[in-house]
Amino acid sequence: MQNLINESFTLPCGQVIKNRVCKAAMTERIAKGNNLAHQGHANLYERWAEGDIGISLTGNVQVDRRNLEGPANVAIDQNNYKDQLDALNTWARAGTKNNTQLWMQISHAGRQTPGEINSSPMAPSDIGLKIPGKNFGTPTPMTEEDILDVIDRFVFTAKIARDTGFTGVQFHSAHGYLLSEFLSPDINNRTDAWGGSIENRARIHLEIIKRCRQEVGEDFPISVKLNSADFQKGGFSPDESIKVAQMLENAGVDIIEISGGTYEQPKLIGVEASINAKRSEKRKESTIAREAYFLEYAQDIRKAVSIPLMVTGGFRTREGINDALQSNVCQIVGIGRPLCADPYCIKKMLSGELETLPSFEKTLSLGPYILSPSSPFTLIKVINAFASMAWFYQQIKNMAKGLMPNQEQKLFNAFTADMKADKLALKDYLNNK
Ligand SMILES: Cc1cc2nc3c(=O)[nH]c(=O)nc-3n(C[C@H](O)[C@H](O)[C@H](O)COP(=O)(O)O)c2cc1C
Repeated sequence: MQNLINESFTLPCGQVIKNRVCKAAMTERIAKGNNLAHQGHANLYERWAEGDIGISLTGNVQVDRRNLEGPANVAIDQNNYKDQLDALNTWARAGTKNNTQLWMQISHAGRQTPGEINSSPMAPSDIGLKIPGKNFGTPTPMTEEDILDVIDRFVFTAKIARDTGFTGVQFHSAHGYLLSEFLSPDINNRTDAWGGSIENRARIHLEIIKRCRQEVGEDFPISVKLNSADFQKGGFSPDESIKVAQMLENAGVDIIEISGGTYEQPKLIGVEASINAKRSEKRKESTIAREAYFLEYAQDIRKAVSIPLMVTGGFRTREGINDALQSNVCQIVGIGRPLCADPYCIKKMLSGELETLPSFEKTLSLGPYILSPSSPFTLIKVINAFASMAWFYQQIKNMAKGLMPNQEQKLFNAFTADMKADKLALKDYLNNK
C-alpha cells in the first residue's frame, strides 16, 4: 500500500499542505476572563508545529463574547481585537513553524452557550437544549438584524486571522453550535429566508463564505466543519448534508471537514450513547465497527462533490489512515485526542517509528469502583468518555505552560483539576463581563 500520509497536497486555492494530517480543532479553554489570546496559545501551537503536522486547526475562536462555548475561549470582535493583535501575531508565528498551516476555527456557540454565561443565548429559534445536570437557557430567536450582525462578525474574525498571520480559516458548522443549528430542521423552525428549505437553512453559511472570500482573497484557504448528520429524529440528515456539501463546493470552499453529532449526541468523540434517547437516531452499524467514525458518510458525500474532504474522529492506525486516503474518500485526515497525549505522535508515524497513535483510554477509579472504557455498560462508557475529556484538557493546559503532557496523570485527578479550573474560569469571565 502507498504511504499517502506523507505526501503533500494542493488545495483548490493553491496552498500546499506538506502532508495529509490535520490536528483537529480542540478548544483550549486557557484564555483569561477577558477572552484574549496570550502567550499560552503560542506555546501550545508551537509544540504541535514541532510535531510535523500538515495543518493545525485552533480550538473554536468565538465571534461574540456573549455566546461562548466556554468561559475561557478566545473571542475576537470589533471591541477587543486591538488588545490582542500582538498575541495573535505571536500565536501565528509559533503555530506556523516548520511550514505548518495554522487555521483559525471560527464559531458561535448558539444555544449550546452555557446558561451561566448567557441565560438567553442567540439561536435560530427558541428551542432549548436539555442535558441532565447542565444549565442551558431558552434561546432568543435571532432577528434579521442579529443574523446580519453575526455574518459580519464571522467575516471580521476571518479577516483578523488573515491579517495576523494565520494561514487559513475554518467555519464551525458541526456539533450543534450556531451554524449547525441553522441547518437542523428540528432546531431551526424559522419561516423567513433563513429557515424552511435546506437552501434557506444554509443561507447564512453561503453569505459568510461569499463575504469572507471577498475579504481574504482567492489564495487563502477557507474550510467548513460540517456534520454528516446530527443523529436526532427529525434533525439534519445525511442526505441534507450531501446537499449542503454541494452548496459549499459551489461557494468556493477549499475543503470540508466531516464530523457529526451534538451535545445531545456526542458521537464526535465516539460515544455511542444518546443523552436524549427519545430523540436519538441510530448510526449506520457498519460505520461503528470501523476505525473512523464518519468515513462511510464521507463516502456518500464524496460521490456528490469533487472538492477535498477531511474526515475526523477515531483514526488511530497508519493502515486506517492510508486506507482512507487511498480510497480517495478524503484527502486529509483529522486527528484530535492522540495529539493531546503526545504532540509528536504524528511525526513518529510519518517517520515510520509508530504504527498506532496513543489513545490513552484510561480507567476511572472512584473509590472501590473501577469505570473501565471497555465496560459493557453504556453509562460507564459515557462517564469514562467525559472524564477523559478532562484529562485531555489538562494536557492542553500543560503544553500551554510550555510543559509536555503528563501521561501518568490519573483520570480522577484530571477530572477534579478540570472542574476546579472551569469554576475559576467562569468566575474570572463573570468578573470581566
Ligand atoms: C478536548 C477536546 C476539545 C474539542 N474541541 C473542539 C472544538 O473546539 N472544535 C471542534 O470542531 N471540535 C472539537 N473537538 C472535536 C475534535 O475536533 C474531533 O472531532 C474529535 O476529538 C474526534 O477526533 P479524535 O478521535 O481524533 O479525537 C474537541 C475534542 C476534544 C477531545
